[in-house]
Amino acid sequence: MCGIVGYVGPRDCTDVLVEALTKLEYRGYDSAGIAVFENGKIEVAKSKGRLSDLVGKMEKEGKPKGHAGIGHTRWATHGEPSDVNSHPHSGRRVTLVHNGIIENYKEIKQFLIENEHTEFLSDTDTEVVAQLLDFYYTGNPIRAIRRVMHEIRGSYALGIVFADRPETVYAVRCESPLIVGQGKGEVFVASDVPAIIKYTKDYYLLEYGEIAVLKNGAVNFCDLHGRMLEKELKTADWDEDSAEKGGYPHFMIKEIHEQPTAVKTTIMPRIENGLPNLSECGITRETLKDINNIFIVACGTAMHAGMVGKYVIEKLARVSVTVDIASEFRYRDPLIGENDLVIIISQSGETADSKAVLSLVKGTGAKTLAVVNVKGSSIAREADMVIYTHAGPEIAVASTKAYMVQLSVMYLLAFEISLAKGKIDEEKCRQLTAQLEQVPEVIDAAINKVVDECQYISTKLITADSLLYIGRGLDYALSMEGSLKLKEISYIHSESYAAGELKHGTISLVEEGMPVIAVATQNTLLEKTVSNIKEVKARGAMTIVICDEKAEIDEEAVDYMIRIPQINETLMPMVATVPMQLLAYYTSVNKGNDVDKPRNLAKSVTVE
Ligand code: F6R
Repeated sequence: MCGIVGYVGPRDCTDVLVEALTKLEYRGYDSAGIAVFENGKIEVAKSKGRLSDLVGKMEKEGKPKGHAGIGHTRWATHGEPSDVNSHPHSGRRVTLVHNGIIENYKEIKQFLIENEHTEFLSDTDTEVVAQLLDFYYTGNPIRAIRRVMHEIRGSYALGIVFADRPETVYAVRCESPLIVGQGKGEVFVASDVPAIIKYTKDYYLLEYGEIAVLKNGAVNFCDLHGRMLEKELKTADWDEDSAEKGGYPHFMIKEIHEQPTAVKTTIMPRIENGLPNLSECGITRETLKDINNIFIVACGTAMHAGMVGKYVIEKLARVSVTVDIASEFRYRDPLIGENDLVIIISQSGETADSKAVLSLVKGTGAKTLAVVNVKGSSIAREADMVIYTHAGPEIAVASTKAYMVQLSVMYLLAFEISLAKGKIDEEKCRQLTAQLEQVPEVIDAAINKVVDECQYISTKLITADSLLYIGRGLDYALSMEGSLKLKEISYIHSESYAAGELKHGTISLVEEGMPVIAVATQNTLLEKTVSNIKEVKARGAMTIVICDEKAEIDEEAVDYMIRIPQINETLMPMVATVPMQLLAYYTSVNKGNDVDKPRNLAKSVTVE
């Protein structure tokens, strides 16, 4: 995944492009580049490495000066990160930046070679598009773009400049997200809203197959057939601060602190007279009443939120829930029936594997429900129903607040399904909903209570080669997320294990000093989990236990106890998540890693 930007207006274009790209670096950060019209000529600057490397290079070699141009921050898919593979890529008269993947680039390359267009400098699929566009370009940019769009296959968003069309930027969307920001006398292109929020909150969302032409501070749109379009101007409900660090050293820790507000903003508008009300999302008790089976499909952290959802929905609503990884689900020919509900959870709403599940479900008769954070994203638009989470922009690659709000939606849904199925009455539901309403406060208290302890305990983790997370029931679902969080930003290997399963093989890994983090918030399972903690302690493990304030646990079995504020046991995952996030965060900080941009990862995975 990559980030693309564009600008046409009175400001210094290079400055705007660089500033906008800093907000998109979460999408990819192994190289960056820009192309700007300087005195009617396209000037390109690009570099392997972070955006700061490009800026450093331009400081030494001079930066392009002008008022219209395009920019890119890359996460390599075709061709290693290198200066030459960095975007923009050019043909003779065309220069472009690309987010996505061109599936048939090899055939096109072959076609171009056979037609004597043989100058390929890079290993990228993107350069092939630039060359193809050049091949078809006879002076009418829209005609050439449309022709190319009919020939290339894949997911893409493009920002394009033509050498003989100075001060004009063309933008195209097919699958990969793209917006056009409208300011006063200036226009912007970006893969995501945070890139332009400093300049304007007003934007157009490009749809599949649409082309935008940015010129003289204004924009015009047409479709794949060349027909002019009128588009609705939207207004972002985020302010500039939400896309900035706001005094925190990293986005991740800022986002951890934003969780109480994010949960409040997500659940409060969906509670009416003490009961869940999801009707604005197209969900009523009538629609839920006859559901047979539920499938929750997602990737990574979002899938872990689904795991918690499974435990809670099955426990309260007594409906069978299968949780699956989207990349597995889409190829395993699942048995989906007419009255089933398929829930797709995704922060970005653009994850390729999760998106593919929607097409798979079409025609089965099952209903699809998207739980998505990014408004207007592909998954949100393609599902039958959508519950937007209101986490605001999540910039750190490691997901924290998006996971937390996904959990809060899982609870609301579980309550609503339970009511619809007659498994709980309104009074019981009111009690549960009231407890959910208290969660933001408890999360806040948990952050304040455990932050110092977690910072200290993380100093004990940095030398570990490997560690285990264990738990039972909801605590097991949660430990999966704890383990992922730690490994993705600290680069320490970790595994999550159902505590009772340890003795069937994995306990042989435990040796002197190995950290084992046990989540023990489920009182009904506490005794069993404590036995497992003793088992690993007896084999030399350094045990770290996350439990509530009152849990009775033999202190001798525990090296570090992290006690969190108590709430109804079913809701404890939302509180117990906090120490796991903080342990991961401080371990990464203490190791000197780039917390917000861990190696090899990108914020949303729009390619398979
Ligand atoms: C990990 C993380 C990823 C995402 C996964 C799905 O911290 O963020 O595991 O959860 O790539 O992304 P979305 O939710 O955008 O579909």
